[in-house]
Amino acid sequence: PDGGRVPVLVIGTGYGGSVAALRLAQAGIDVHMVEMGQDWDTAPNGPDGKRHPKVTSPDYRSFWMRTKTKAPLSNFLGFPLDKEVPKFAGILDAEEFAGITVYQGRGVGGGSLVNGGMAVTPRRQHFSSVLPSVNADEMYATYYPRANSGLGVGMINPDWFERTSYYQYSRVGRKHAQRSGFAWTFVPDVYDWAYMEAEDNGTVPKSALAQEILYGNNHGKRTLPKTYLAQAKATGKVTISALHEVTSVTPATGGDYAVTLRKIDTSGTTVATKTVKAGKVFFAAGSVGTSKLLVKLKATGALPLLNAEVGKGWGENGNVMVGRANHLWDPTGDVQSTIPCSGIDNWDAGGAFAEVAPLPTGIETFASFYLSITKNPRRAEFTYNAAAQRVDLSWQQAWKQDSIAMAKTIFDKINSKEGTIYRTDLFGSNKIWGDHLTYHPLGGAVLNKATDNYGRLHGYPGLYVIDGALIPGNTAVNPFVTITALAERNIERIIATDL
Ligand code: FDA
Repeated sequence: PDGGRVPVLVIGTGYGGSVAALRLAQAGIDVHMVEMGQDWDTAPNGPDGKRHPKVTSPDYRSFWMRTKTKAPLSNFLGFPLDKEVPKFAGILDAEEFAGITVYQGRGVGGGSLVNGGMAVTPRRQHFSSVLPSVNADEMYATYYPRANSGLGVGMINPDWFERTSYYQYSRVGRKHAQRSGFAWTFVPDVYDWAYMEAEDNGTVPKSALAQEILYGNNHGKRTLPKTYLAQAKATGKVTISALHEVTSVTPATGGDYAVTLRKIDTSGTTVATKTVKAGKVFFAAGSVGTSKLLVKLKATGALPLLNAEVGKGWGENGNVMVGRANHLWDPTGDVQSTIPCSGIDNWDAGGAFAEVAPLPTGIETFASFYLSITKNPRRAEFTYNAAAQRVDLSWQQAWKQDSIAMAKTIFDKINSKEGTIYRTDLFGSNKIWGDHLTYHPLGGAVLNKATDNYGRLHGYPGLYVIDGALIPGNTAVNPFVTITALAERNIERIIATDL
């Protein structure tokens, strides 16, 4: 409530925030979490009688405060797919900066509500180049296993994979990768694989097999509200306020911090402004959310002692998307599971790891689709634009040329081997590469730079960063397992020494 005090306040309910809340609560500490998005578990169903719509039919529930949808794939066969919708606290934010659109989950559970659930632990030899100040032995012996178990990571049953029509697109992806001599691997996921097989058998309501993903899954996915947050709530020591956005954090008397919040309704109108005091504050608003807050608070004098690293070291995990047009003898299937289960690893030779992604349109497209993670070396910076009173990001779209060159080490070779070409109809007319976006924002408050080696912000005892902002721009694979494992490592130390 307005004017109250909490021992610990956590800003955001994604991976970092959920780990912090659970472990603090288990240590006996009362935690209050605030989340700008909705609590989807209590949101009313939509006109389709469901909580979340399919990826093929976005509506007002799909996007955060937009009047027109902004699907990652903007076009299909020459037709623009986006449409007008009423402004609403929808589940997916397509946040536009000058050179890039950053997709993020909005709601209790953060990115876990909208993501593909691909739960990848990076190869050990890559970890030290990402986070050189972190003891890799400890990460691989303790914190990665802890994160994988807390998240409920599992692997597809390989026999079912070979039989089901829903993964024909993946089998075609494997055939093409292997014929060109690339390493192809299964990728673990937090989706309940037994549930997905039951979907295929027709014994349970379909979700991944019924085009649900980007705008929420009604069943099957082990999102944070079913894992870390469920456990956190079960302790009785964690409360969550949804539709509350933190706008300021500043020192108060007695070593506390004063946190200002804006309570909104689902159309984005401010219905109340509150200030609460907190003994400790964890920034877990995601790479973009945390960076924006810190950069603004430093520039506007609320947290002037933050160091010069704040806002720096941001990257997009080298994300780039592409489609290939197959021959008529290589259909990818009119039914496709929305959950990717495999990838092509050309990281060491070409700097690219490509997930074999679905294109669940409901019709045969003869297209193979991929989201690549590449070793793009570019890093951008968040800065405060005082005139416009907003935070800008210096990323330039041209920087994606590095990612495209790396992705081409895979797909040029496959195209040449198969005698196929790229699709030019998915991202606009005659545009091959999806180079305007990322799903994987990382950095902006980098570990051991803006913070100490455990996420304590320099300049302010009791302020911590515990989300993707800590990771300097790239993880070599999909990021949430690394975000979770690093949060597990840091919170263990913080509980032992600071609380
Ligand atoms: P996260 O973004 O999860 O949570 C931050 C939360 O803070 C959000 O709920 C936000 O609303 C809230 N917030 C922000 N500002 C606030 C403020 N001022 N006040 C209050 N609340 C605030 N990764 C992966 O490993 N495998 C995958 O398959 C995919 N697939 C994928 C698909 C799509 C479409 C997207 C958008 C993303 C993915 N990802 C992914 C990425 C993954 O989801 C992402 O890396 C994590 O969610 C980041 O976790 P964090 O804890 O850093 O923040």
